[in-house]
Amino acid sequence: MKIVTYLFKAAIVSVPLLLQAPAFAQTDAELYGKADALLKKMTLQEKVNMIHGNTTFTSAGVPRLGIPDFVMSDGPHGVRLENRPEVTNDASTYLPTGVCLAATWNPSLGYAFGSVLGSEANYRGKDVILGPGINIIRSPLNGRNFEYESEDPYLISRMVVGYIKGVQDQGVSACVKHFALNNQEYLRTKINVEVSERALREIYLPGFKAAITEAGVNTLMGSYNKVRGEWATHNNYLINQILKKEWGFKGLVMSDWAAVHSTVQALWNGTDLEMGTDLEQGDHRDYSKFFLGDTVITLVKKGIVPENLIDDKVRRILYVMLKTHVLDKQNRKKGEFNTKEHQQATAKIAEEGIVLLKNQNHILPLSSSVKSIAVIGYNADRPQALGGGSSQIKALYEITPLQGLKNVVGGKVKITYAQGYKIERGATADAGMIKQAADAAAKADVAVVVGGWTHGYDYNKWGDNAYDAEDTDKPNMNMPFGQDELIKAVLKANPKTVVVLMGGGAIDMTQWVNQTPGIIQAWYPGMEGGNALARIIFGQVNPSGKLPMTFPKILADAPAHKLGQFPGDGTNVYYLDDIYVGYRYFDTWKVEPQFAFGYGLSYTTFRYNNLKVKANGDAATVTFNVTNSGKVAGAEITQLYLKQEKSTLPRPEKELKGFEKIFLKPGETKQVSLTLNPDAFKYFNDTKNQWVMEKGNFDVLVGSSSRDIRLNGVVAM
Ligand code: NOJ
Repeated sequence: MKIVTYLFKAAIVSVPLLLQAPAFAQTDAELYGKADALLKKMTLQEKVNMIHGNTTFTSAGVPRLGIPDFVMSDGPHGVRLENRPEVTNDASTYLPTGVCLAATWNPSLGYAFGSVLGSEANYRGKDVILGPGINIIRSPLNGRNFEYESEDPYLISRMVVGYIKGVQDQGVSACVKHFALNNQEYLRTKINVEVSERALREIYLPGFKAAITEAGVNTLMGSYNKVRGEWATHNNYLINQILKKEWGFKGLVMSDWAAVHSTVQALWNGTDLEMGTDLEQGDHRDYSKFFLGDTVITLVKKGIVPENLIDDKVRRILYVMLKTHVLDKQNRKKGEFNTKEHQQATAKIAEEGIVLLKNQNHILPLSSSVKSIAVIGYNADRPQALGGGSSQIKALYEITPLQGLKNVVGGKVKITYAQGYKIERGATADAGMIKQAADAAAKADVAVVVGGWTHGYDYNKWGDNAYDAEDTDKPNMNMPFGQDELIKAVLKANPKTVVVLMGGGAIDMTQWVNQTPGIIQAWYPGMEGGNALARIIFGQVNPSGKLPMTFPKILADAPAHKLGQFPGDGTNVYYLDDIYVGYRYFDTWKVEPQFAFGYGLSYTTFRYNNLKVKANGDAATVTFNVTNSGKVAGAEITQLYLKQEKSTLPRPEKELKGFEKIFLKPGETKQVSLTLNPDAFKYFNDTKNQWVMEKGNFDVLVGSSSRDIRLNGVVAM
């Protein structure tokens, strides 16, 4: 059967990458020995040169000691273009963006993703790739949600470990960002975030903690905003206390670009490397005038700052450089660029990340009786790679949805195209374009509307018409450019309509969701995204992605907007939604979402049974069986949530504590076994300022989404 071949053939992609061990491993003692030997030979000036940028994406080395410049590059889903006219070989592999990766719920694809990125960064001569971005998706409006992963800290933690190990096993460093609480772009360089200690610990930090303590990430980027009154990039509590002391981070902390505001604070509060661009810095074009430039030399010479504070920063930088063979690149594993395997990995991630949201009367997959389709909507025919801000990619190629459909069924199915809407901020429905689209829909067996958010298409002006983009948030959750009117007109002309939504997250569908039989969430699915989408539409691939965030019906239902503040009062933003982010809010407050966290359909069905829960000291094991009860092969993302029956402080209705994606042939049954370690039962009691384990009963909820619980158990801890 075709689906079987595809699912299993594609799984091969990640296997060779998984088997590759890091080359030339060195112990920490060896690395520190070498770092200290170099440090002893360095002048103060040379040390200071190393702790600030010397071009937009490099910091200085010490040529006389054989230390080259340290080279960084964006970004989280592909190696960024060089933006220098003389460089022409910088068109690279364009991976699906972070949110699509998270929607796969497949940590081995996180590893495959990171491997592609690390390998290409290495090939392009980079030492650090500036990703993953893992800030919590707190509001649907954040312009960078597409780069991020989820509203759930546990899902982020699992995905990020694979990603970082994938990058770093290729010999270069990952850079987890943006630490911390950079959950909006509006006023990102000014806003002060006020958050409870409990929400910080339970929601906003676990992804970073996993990146440090489990994945061993080499570098971390501080964020632009303030946290509790102090800039995040040089925030004593976040960086010195939590990151470096509690979590034992050994790598280097770099600032976001131009995020340093004070020499003394950066020196004392843990910033190791100040980065920024000549353009953004305005009158700081001379890099020695950076906050961590000449001023540092003066302060040390005057005895105001001890030199060993600078040494600690340089030691961290050297540790990472030595670990990743920046000084002896001949010993670094060789990178690869634009290989077939890399392209196949992007296809596989897109196939597993695209989410089927609605499939009334089995409109999908389209069958061989469909002879004509009208493809409608500007997103069907536009490349997306260059949009979005610093994560932009000059893609080697990008298969758009229209191209993908032509590739997959072009010879057999007649495909017409109508643009349907114009991309212009504030534009409403264009009657002429809508008529053209409706006419095309009326003449075809099926209409496929590809719309949703946009990403900008000119990297120099990404803000103009972009909604999913850096430095901007969406004004609301409404479909832009008159797309509601377009979809309603197409549905009227042809009720057999499938709506494909691109974008970094939720959009208000209330005007047409009930009338539309087929809805697909395609995110920004990378260079092979159009092929992946077409294979799903025509059933060559069985969709298996699930939402990594809740889709509210309307913006007012989103907890950041209902309980908290977004985007704040211009100076502060109070996270009064506290720990009730995403489904933790919807389920506790009993608010019906449009589509729930963890939700996604398949072309087959799954049956759950035989739940067994066994406590084992402070831990527990949960086992259950899942059967593919339908007719085609498919993958199910099984999810395990816990609810504590009684606790001193209120806890959410449920919290994700385990998941596993399993691949099943028709009729096949597999046993899933998930371990709940002691931390899974704890919560952060901020009256005691510590994680607590309160004895009692925990409901064990196993299911297909956060709102589709199939098996219930109880464990007494
Ligand atoms: C600012 C962005 O916030 C960050 O994510 C990026 O890596 C740097 N600029 C460098 O482009």
